[in-house]
Amino acid sequence: MIQAWAASVFVVGALVLAGIFVFIAFKARAGPVPYDDVAHTGYQIRAFWFLGLAATLAVILTLGIPYYPYPSFRQSTVGQPELQVQVTASQYLWKLEPDQVPVGRVIEFDVTSGDVNHDFALYGPDHVLFGQVQAMPDYTNRLYLKFSTPGSYEIRCLEYCGVAHSGMLGTLSVTP
Ligand code: CUA
Repeated sequence: MIQAWAASVFVVGALVLAGIFVFIAFKARAGPVPYDDVAHTGYQIRAFWFLGLAATLAVILTLGIPYYPYPSFRQSTVGQPELQVQVTASQYLWKLEPDQVPVGRVIEFDVTSGDVNHDFALYGPDHVLFGQVQAMPDYTNRLYLKFSTPGSYEIRCLEYCGVAHSGMLGTLSVTP
């Protein structure tokens, strides 16, 4: 199925490309075009692409503001935190207080580290990354999350922090 689809895309793409080559070949038969005409069209194309890309970028960045990982933005989309979880990372374990939260509530994770930089990453029961934030010494990063699926969430460290980094695992239990 997907092979047939890829083959059709390839054939259509190849035909379009061949058509462009034929078109350019026929146009070239008319003889050379003065440099100023070419340059003028070139600058127009460049201005069109620049403005188009700049406008696209501006729209994407503006629409993305509510999803920026800063507390004030996150609070405006997720809501005011109702419960807090204190997360402390250290070589090579996670300490969570409490280590159990309910679904449907906004949870504020206050994440810090007792030694070096770590990265607090929560994976859902479907093994998909649900949220993550850096765990830094002498600093508290806040992560706002609202769970809709109960289950056991695995915590992994996503910042290389020493020989046992890969074994730095933990669990957060999300109850109905
Ligand atoms: Cu802690 Cu990697």
